[in-house]
Amino acid sequence: MRSFARDENPHQDRDDFSNLTKLSPYVWRYGKRVGVALCCLLLGKFATVCTPLVLKGIIDSLDQQSDAALTSNLVVAIPLAFLVGYGALRLASGLFSELRDILFSRVRYSAMHQMAVDVLAHLHTLSLRFHLERNTGGISRDLERGTRSLASVLNLLVFSILPTIAEFLLVGGILLYRYDSILMVVIVITVLVYVAFTLSMSKWRMSFRHDMNKYDSAANGRAVDSLLNYETVKYFNNEEMEVRNYNEQLKLWGEAGQKTQISLSVLNFGQGAIVTVGVTIIMILAAKSVAAGEITIGDLVLINAMMLQLFIPLSILGSVYRSLQYALADMDLVIKLLEKTPEIVDTDSGAELSVSRGDVTFNNVGFYYDSNRPILKDVSLSIGAGQKVAVVGPSGSGKSTLVRLLFRFYEVTDGEITIDGQSIANCTQQSLRKAIGIVPQDTVLFNDSIRYNIGYAKPEATDQEITAAASSADLSTLLSRLPEGLDTVVGERGLKLSGGEKQRLAISRVILKAPRIIIFDEATSSLDSRSEQAILSALNTVSKNATTLVIAHRLSTIIDADKIVVLDDGRIVETGSHQTLLKQDGLYRKLWDMQQSEADS
Ligand SMILES: Nc1ncnc2c1ncn2[C@@H]1O[C@H](COP(=O)(O)OP(=O)(O)O)[C@@H](O)[C@H]1O
Ligand SMILES: [Mg+2]
Repeated sequence: MRSFARDENPHQDRDDFSNLTKLSPYVWRYGKRVGVALCCLLLGKFATVCTPLVLKGIIDSLDQQSDAALTSNLVVAIPLAFLVGYGALRLASGLFSELRDILFSRVRYSAMHQMAVDVLAHLHTLSLRFHLERNTGGISRDLERGTRSLASVLNLLVFSILPTIAEFLLVGGILLYRYDSILMVVIVITVLVYVAFTLSMSKWRMSFRHDMNKYDSAANGRAVDSLLNYETVKYFNNEEMEVRNYNEQLKLWGEAGQKTQISLSVLNFGQGAIVTVGVTIIMILAAKSVAAGEITIGDLVLINAMMLQLFIPLSILGSVYRSLQYALADMDLVIKLLEKTPEIVDTDSGAELSVSRGDVTFNNVGFYYDSNRPILKDVSLSIGAGQKVAVVGPSGSGKSTLVRLLFRFYEVTDGEITIDGQSIANCTQQSLRKAIGIVPQDTVLFNDSIRYNIGYAKPEATDQEITAAASSADLSTLLSRLPEGLDTVVGERGLKLSGGEKQRLAISRVILKAPRIIIFDEATSSLDSRSEQAILSALNTVSKNATTLVIAHRLSTIIDADKIVVLDDGRIVETGSHQTLLKQDGLYRKLWDMQQSEADS
């Protein structure tokens, strides 16, 4: 289904001014350059505005020539100087406007670049909770929004709004200085009426555009949905109804489209009419003055040229206004995103976690994702340095949640987790995560080579290290079968590898990272028994000296654990070695018997 980033009504409550001031640092970092670019803008406009002045000189001197005798060479020289000046001014106007663009492009691209980097960095600080609640499309739109809104606002300011204001002031100044102030009064009134008309019309027109987008995506949504439900449509013989629905939405879309066009024509015509009335009044006034001998014909041409020059940039005011509204709306969303505070932050006193032994302790840990549904209840568990502790239990009992808490993707709601006696809530996230390695339940890979994905655990790793890690994780056979070996690209999210291959890749990452604390979250669940045996020995080598937390689905893989903890509905219900738990005849025994009979059958 198509979605429209611009469907949000741009007329919402927001403080544009404060948003703009928040973004201004991106531009002011290049203050000098911006200053020079603005000077070029002024000089360029000055040259543009002076062009009609020279034109007036040319006309007036030609006019005098026709009166005077055409004998002297001196008289011919005067318009020549004016003509050359005219050309020079036109050149200067073009030159300065290109200079402005060149100078400004660096500012614009750097600001966009910096903004995009900041948004990405900020998105990485936001919590897992935030990311689980959003779709990827939304996130990439946020990134795009940030740069787009900044670029649009800058472009509109520098290429449309500021030049128009500068031009208006310059023209106004010249006319006020040279001619009767009544001209200026008429111009100001005309411009005000023009601007008011354009803005109110544009606002009104935006609702039609909005309707168009709405009906368009509704129609598309219906069409796509009906095709996705192809079989259901056939089961119920509802083809006609689907087409009729589509037809109705498209009809509304067409009507809104027509209104958009009609309103555009009204806008264009209205703008033209206002300009014509204004210019006509001014020309009448000017012509009267010429007749009275107060000003020359050159002056009349000058005034006319300046009027037209003034109104040409104003004609795009409507679309400038619309783009500005969208850009400001985008900007608002980005600023709100940048102001979202991360859920997990390092405390001010945040010390580096120093891991000497690698004891991990959960002290009366309670946790919920949503306050109305507790997930972990009073979990106390300690894993001595170098020990291997297994957590087992039905799916959904909270095993993976334990791991997320240990990684501090969420803060515990109750109790605390310590490593070597230091509460992880007081350590920096970097130092904590450096100390722990994990083979997650679902391994998601980057759409890059196997080399890149294994090396992700240690970007400076040599090829030998990567190959060694791969072969310890029993990946050698796979690599030798792949024509491109380590350079094989794994596809989006690693879809070109099987579940077992992805898990082995994740294991080789941990081998490369060689942390003090290792977690296996159902690390062998996607493997068949034979590969499982091969990997288990690899796992044992990796974790020989490390503190190990194993979350296991198949109980046969954790018989040798120092301690087995049985978790049920977020609570620890049994603890002990394999043998003691079997004797206890509780949940563990039940799970064990179930798996044994499956294995036998
Ligand atoms: N981000 C989340 N938001 C809300 N509930 C969640 C979230 N993640 C997991 N849960 C719920 O928490 C419970 C425990 O999940 P988890 O720890 O993944 O179970 P498992 O023991 O199978 O690894 C499950 O019932 C799951 O639905
Ligand atoms: Mg799990």
